[in-house]
Amino acid sequence: MPKILVIDDDTSICESLELYLTEEGYEVHTALTGTDGLNKAVEVSPDVVILDIRLPDIDGFTILEDLKGEDEDIKVIMITAHHDMDTTIRAMKEGAFDYIHKPINVDELDIAIQKALTSLEMEKKINGLLMEPSRDFRVGDIIGTGSAMREIFKTIGVVSQSKTTVLIQGGSGTGKELIAKVIHYNTAADEPYIAINCSAIVDTLLESELFGHEKGSFTGAISRKLGKFELARYGTIFLDEISEMSVNLQAKLLRVLQEMEFERIGGKDRVKVNARIITATNKNLKELVSEGKFRDDLYYRLNIVAINIPPLRERREDILPLVDYLLKKINRDLHKKIAGVSDEMIDVFIKYSWPGNIRELENLLVRAVVVAQGQVLGREDFPDLLGSSVSSEVQEEALGVKNERGEDSKLCTIDEIEEKHIREVIRKAGNNKGKICEILGISRPTLERKLKKYGIKFESVKG
Ligand SMILES: Nc1ncnc2c1ncn2[C@@H]1O[C@H](COP(=O)(O)OP(=O)(O)OP(=O)(O)O)[C@@H](O)[C@H]1O
Ligand SMILES: [Mg+2]
Repeated sequence: MPKILVIDDDTSICESLELYLTEEGYEVHTALTGTDGLNKAVEVSPDVVILDIRLPDIDGFTILEDLKGEDEDIKVIMITAHHDMDTTIRAMKEGAFDYIHKPINVDELDIAIQKALTSLEMEKKINGLLMEPSRDFRVGDIIGTGSAMREIFKTIGVVSQSKTTVLIQGGSGTGKELIAKVIHYNTAADEPYIAINCSAIVDTLLESELFGHEKGSFTGAISRKLGKFELARYGTIFLDEISEMSVNLQAKLLRVLQEMEFERIGGKDRVKVNARIITATNKNLKELVSEGKFRDDLYYRLNIVAINIPPLRERREDILPLVDYLLKKINRDLHKKIAGVSDEMIDVFIKYSWPGNIRELENLLVRAVVVAQGQVLGREDFPDLLGSSVSSEVQEEALGVKNERGEDSKLCTIDEIEEKHIREVIRKAGNNKGKICEILGISRPTLERKLKKYGIKFESVKG
């Protein structure tokens, strides 16, 4: 039964609407003040609110805003007076679903409520399609259609049957951690998954993070602390950016891997390692070994099974499915209903080199979804990739698009891009230095310095 909340300070309106709407088959609640109305809205979560714009305690617009803030899909029908056209327009602009005039005509009211409920139902259907969790979105899904990714799926399947050590290699944002998690959840979902970034912590602290310490083993060791190897129990310990581990700690890790036992810092007890070890790096570990920067014996211990994730630009067949998948995920997280990306932008996506791989794609999509006005993401929603403020030459260079002469555009320096961009902004901003500074997001002295640096001369019109 649809729920309707009537908020009006006129007792007779509340009473008669309650009577009428209950008879029509709705569950009706009423409130005589704004405060009471807001409380009841939280309490009963109505589908439709009939709201008087003039209330004694809180202004109707504030209530409208609060109601929408609580539930953006709620349908609010405002009751306005005939002479109040401005207020009515404002109410509609601020998100009211409809309005009816005083004195209330029940036919008009019926139509407005019907429209509101139909609209609500359609939105629910659309949401359901976009957010059906079991059908096309599962946390931890790895998207990949090409042969490289299919091989990786097989490897994940195989290693999930044992506790072998796995080394995951791939550029930044290619999904190393995602794969580590999927392996973990396929092997030991009920046990802990513990990730630690070897580059983020100084050496001595990292040692105690990994292996723990006994009370008093060094200054600051005020109590016993268990290390990640112990805390991970029968689960997974993920050592990220393993290439950054110091030579000293590499030696200690090697010993742990050989013996599958270790001692806490300052301790005598032997602690058994039961967790699976997964390591990851975005460097070429083998090269580091040949350069003498990484121990070869440790490398062989870690590299029992290797998973090498190719960069996104080498598996362009995955771009479209990834866009679909990521949009669903982002829609769900941000409560948005973006339907897709324009064909034009898909072309750009397919051609682009994606140095930041899937993370870069995801970040671009998140930003685009946040700013998007329409249902389909277009070029205006990707200013970083194809900014209206970036000159077309720079765009083409950034995108690796061929120039008119059919040659690959040369890659240029940041200074060259900056100079071109400043010249472009000057052209568009009509020599108004104030505006130029605003667009570039720099101060006047900085602008002057840059103009001098690049030898750009022009007469400032004003500002
Ligand atoms: N094949 C994929 N399918 C779906 N999502 C993916 C895929 N690969 C990566 N992602 C998503 O991209 C983002 C980056 O992935 P992740 O953090 O695993 O990369 P990483 O290789 O560890 O990156 P970094 O080198 O920056 O640490 C995450 O949000 C992840 O869920
Ligand atoms: Mg990572």
